Amino acid sequence: MSMYNKKSIDDIEVKGRKVLVRCDFNVPLDGDVITDTKRITEALPTIKNLMDRGARVILCSHMGRPKGVFNMKYSLAPVAKKLSELLGREVPLAKDVIGEDAKALAATLGDGDVMLIENVRFHKEEEKNDPAFAKELASFAEIFVNDAFGTAHRAHASTAGVADYLPAVCGYLIQKEIRIMGGALSNPVRPFVAILGGAKVSDKIGVINNLLEKVDTLIIGGGMAYTFYKAKGYTIGTSICEDDKLDLARDLLEKAKAKGVNFLLPVDNVCSKEFSADSEPMLFPADGLADDVMGMDIGVKTREIFCDAVKNAKTVVWNGPMGVCEFANFAVGTETLAKAIADSDATSIVGGGDSAAAIEKFGLASKITHVSTGGGASLEFLEGLELPGIACLQDK
Ligand code: 3PG
Repeated sequence: MSMYNKKSIDDIEVKGRKVLVRCDFNVPLDGDVITDTKRITEALPTIKNLMDRGARVILCSHMGRPKGVFNMKYSLAPVAKKLSELLGREVPLAKDVIGEDAKALAATLGDGDVMLIENVRFHKEEEKNDPAFAKELASFAEIFVNDAFGTAHRAHASTAGVADYLPAVCGYLIQKEIRIMGGALSNPVRPFVAILGGAKVSDKIGVINNLLEKVDTLIIGGGMAYTFYKAKGYTIGTSICEDDKLDLARDLLEKAKAKGVNFLLPVDNVCSKEFSADSEPMLFPADGLADDVMGMDIGVKTREIFCDAVKNAKTVVWNGPMGVCEFANFAVGTETLAKAIADSDATSIVGGGDSAAAIEKFGLASKITHVSTGGGASLEFLEGLELPGIACLQDK
């Protein structure tokens, strides 16, 4: 697939040239404190390489969803500060995106210098992928480097549109994400086990469908297990369920059978009467939930079965929690599985979002082969979809 074979910064001459680098600096903030710097640290190899090779580096990113207006709540100022710290030199932040200040700052760049322009989503043209806006952004530089894996599923001006006006290649982060996740999907060492969780089947239909073509074992946990339960005729009490997805769940179960995929649903569940942190946990078997309880986490026996599957795997992909992991009483399944993945010898890949946050929270990141910087982007990648921010780059 051509998406896996894109030119990178290694394939171009950058000395003395202005390079526009799109990063995903959309980091979680508590006030102006960045609570997880992974997306910034993962962008450093590309930025440092370009600076060391004498490029004039103009960084850009979005932050949050400011809806097309200047709103300093969504300023990249905390990112500029963190980048300055990490690079050991000041990274100046323009006051605007494509305005006078950004232009004046870009004109001062010498070889090996770096700057950051403000949040590209301060202009509504960004998310519309407006060609005039993309052209204006492109006019800052002679080369476009996309390293924003987390935003590669968006066809926006700064992620895809600029590639119409500049030679466009990927940075090392996008290259790494594609190499590891693409490698697992196209040529996995077997047994290949995928674990999918989260509340809704509807969020994961594409991923389940695509992974059923590739895996040996598919494990389903989290809220979406109950839609599968109901499709199988099990009682589910007051558990979350998408009634309009029952036929689809049946189709997916059929497909798994036809493909010979080992499709594992929880055999027992930790349930409670209310959706709350202090509601009493109670254990119920798969087909025996009481009428007045809801499933909140995978049960004891299920943990054993899921962990055994992980232990025997050579490739593991995980996306989505096994239960309501924001409540400590119902986070045990997710934590147990996360530890099993960390302890396994398999190539382990954790798709971003909640599962990546869980891995960080439990301090297991260093034992995972690859924790993706993409939430939505990693899901779309696992679905086998073409990501516009990668498709627009030059082929090798
Ligand atoms: C993300 O956090 O998933 C990316 O930065 C994309 O953000 P978005 O969903 O607002 O486009």
